[in-house]
Amino acid sequence: MDSTRRYFEKHAQAADRLYDDRGVLAPLRRGPRLGRDLAAAVVARQGGPAVLDVGCGPGRVAEAVLDAGAASYVGIDLSPRMLALARRRLQGRERVELIEGDFLELELPGGFPVVLALGLFDYLEDPLRGAAWMRSHCTSTLVASFTRWDWLKGPWRHARYRWIDRCFVTDYEEEAVGRLLTSVGFPRIAFPQRGRRGFLVVAR
Ligand SMILES: C[S@@+](CC[C@H](N)C(=O)[O-])C[C@H]1O[C@@H](n2cnc3c(N)ncnc32)[C@H](O)[C@@H]1O
Repeated sequence: MDSTRRYFEKHAQAADRLYDDRGVLAPLRRGPRLGRDLAAAVVARQGGPAVLDVGCGPGRVAEAVLDAGAASYVGIDLSPRMLALARRRLQGRERVELIEGDFLELELPGGFPVVLALGLFDYLEDPLRGAAWMRSHCTSTLVASFTRWDWLKGPWRHARYRWIDRCFVTDYEEEAVGRLLTSVGFPRIAFPQRGRRGFLVVAR
């Protein structure tokens, strides 16, 4: 966990910039924007639910779901720098709570109609435990994103995380994610976006 925190402390600004939709590289980095837009669409469709965002990062998703009408927003993140970016971005917004820590160690009372886990599962050494925690805090819908192995980016991505940043990272396949989420009690699983390098999941 310490290595994941260190990684995101070092790369918080870069993670934030991934949302920029200008520049020559922007079309190659659509993943975060697709996840954010799906989260906002789910929140709008549900008519303004309370949202729990696990691994909330710099607050880009928070901004979008609040604009889409979320009744309240709780974001959890390991990284103080990520949370500082989120705090700045969400200044003046009401019914927002940002919590620093490892979500697996947190006791949160109550359940949330919408739970988000965007860009998070890749960093979980025990995804089953993570998914079970999310199930126990979710009363309706989980929106999550997953990276899949890709021969263009995969070798560099893994080498960089393993040898340079010394941070755990993994990839997923749709079938395995389906089994994982079903096993913790999300029987209805949809894949609204399937790309070469990753996919989005809505589970109920
Ligand atoms: C790739 S970023 C995604 C941020 C945000 N969800 C988004 O889509 O813009 C992953 C975030 O998850 C956080 N994270 C990773 N493991 C965590 C854990 N066990 N508990 C809380 N946050 C965690 C990291 O600090 C990082 O900010």
